[in-house]
Amino acid sequence: MLRVGVCVSGGGTNLQAIIDKVESGAITGVELAAVVSNNAGAYALTRAKNHGIPVACISPKDYGTREAFHRALIETLDRFHLDLIVLAGFLVVIPEELVRKYRNRMINIHPSLIPSFCGTGNYGLAVHEHALKRGVKVTGATVHFVDEGTDTGPIILQKAVSVREDDTPESLQLRVMEEAEWEILPAAIDLIANGNIRVENGRVVRTT
Ligand code: GAR
Repeated sequence: MLRVGVCVSGGGTNLQAIIDKVESGAITGVELAAVVSNNAGAYALTRAKNHGIPVACISPKDYGTREAFHRALIETLDRFHLDLIVLAGFLVVIPEELVRKYRNRMINIHPSLIPSFCGTGNYGLAVHEHALKRGVKVTGATVHFVDEGTDTGPIILQKAVSVREDDTPESLQLRVMEEAEWEILPAAIDLIANGNIRVENGRVVRTT
């Protein structure tokens, strides 16, 4: 069983999609070993507790320096002996040490078709505001391995979603979640748990 830890900051709808697919058997070979939040008020923590998943909360506010917070974050994650870390709406800049430690063992969901609308300043609703402002007709979501850059790691899965004339950032965000994020994030975890992909020369290739 792959021990998976999910890092969250907010509502946790992506976490819920993962939980549902583990429980229904759509994802196999996975044990949800931990949910870690940087925000004690995150509803994602309630979702985890409702399903008996161990939780930890580690807030930067409780540490004097960024370095101390990073050290505590790494120690917390290490304590759960995770094989895979899933960043599911985790709004914390990942320290390089964590990236190095979990290289090709940490994935992130981003609500656009990378390399569009990604990088610093593109998170949450802002991504959809930028997409609508630019007038793109197609957007979507991407799951990728995490490297030292922001949204630059090897791409695992992407799914496109059409933009409608009357979309607001909120309506587009919801459709990207429903049609893309909640599908490709669990699917990527299943691919990894079953050894179906590997990273080769900075790109993800299928092994089966
Ligand atoms: C999701 O839309 C996710 O793609 C986004 O935050 C939201 C979290 O929602 N992540 C980013 O923007 C990261 N750059 P959730 O808590 O309901 O899963």
